Amino acid sequence: MNILPDSAGVNTSCVDREHRAQSPKPAQGEALRGAGDEVALFETIARNLESTGFSVSSGALPEDLCQALSRHRRGMDEDVFELAGVGRARQYQVLEDIRCDQICWITGASPAGRQWLDWVEALKRHLNRRLFLGLFSFESHFAHFPPGAFYRRHYDAFRGEANRVLSLVVYLNEHWQAGDGGELLIYDDESDRRGLTIAPEWGTVVAFLSEEFPHEVLPTRGDRYSIAGWYRLNSSTRGRVDPPR
Ligand code: OGA
Ligand code: MN
Repeated sequence: MNILPDSAGVNTSCVDREHRAQSPKPAQGEALRGAGDEVALFETIARNLESTGFSVSSGALPEDLCQALSRHRRGMDEDVFELAGVGRARQYQVLEDIRCDQICWITGASPAGRQWLDWVEALKRHLNRRLFLGLFSFESHFAHFPPGAFYRRHYDAFRGEANRVLSLVVYLNEHWQAGDGGELLIYDDESDRRGLTIAPEWGTVVAFLSEEFPHEVLPTRGDRYSIAGWYRLNSSTRGRVDPPR
């Protein structure tokens, strides 16, 4: 069922479940055009990662995938979202002064979740082929930042912990306007205070090396929806598959 094991301690009420019919299949021409666009996007991401370590592509997530994810997200019960925390496993803590988004892990149990994980898998194959990154597993969640929510400056991974290698964020906000806040700021390094500003607009795809770039989400004025995900290395030991999260 899932490509990711649901690791112990994860509240299964906050994983997405099947509740929608599959969206209609695209016509043959559309499917072919989509495939070409997809390779072009994957190649752009590979090149950007190679030259700068990060990549930002506005409105680049395939429209049918974006629509499916957004429709799915709208159909989800509010109570499947849990308050996000900081840290892994036993160090996990909910700290609302650092981040106050609400999250729901994506397992692939719903058609939209499956379509997302298939896309993510295709991107992984492309990046591994092009950049030899050794990306192995992937974990991701829907995130909802209610009005006033933010995520303070942080790294997604710490050097030497061999966990998250590449961060991937996509946005599902159809009518985002200048002034709505909720921008992602990606900083060059520890000392950078200016950062690169990215609006959380519909279909924008952001990828960056998880250990390299401090980043933050500025307070949002409206409801802000996104998916954040991380590719990890295979750090399995003694035949035990390394569980994500
Ligand atoms: C995260 C994160 C960025 C965003 O979830 O770790 O940094 O723009 N998200 O939502
Ligand atoms: Mn982050």
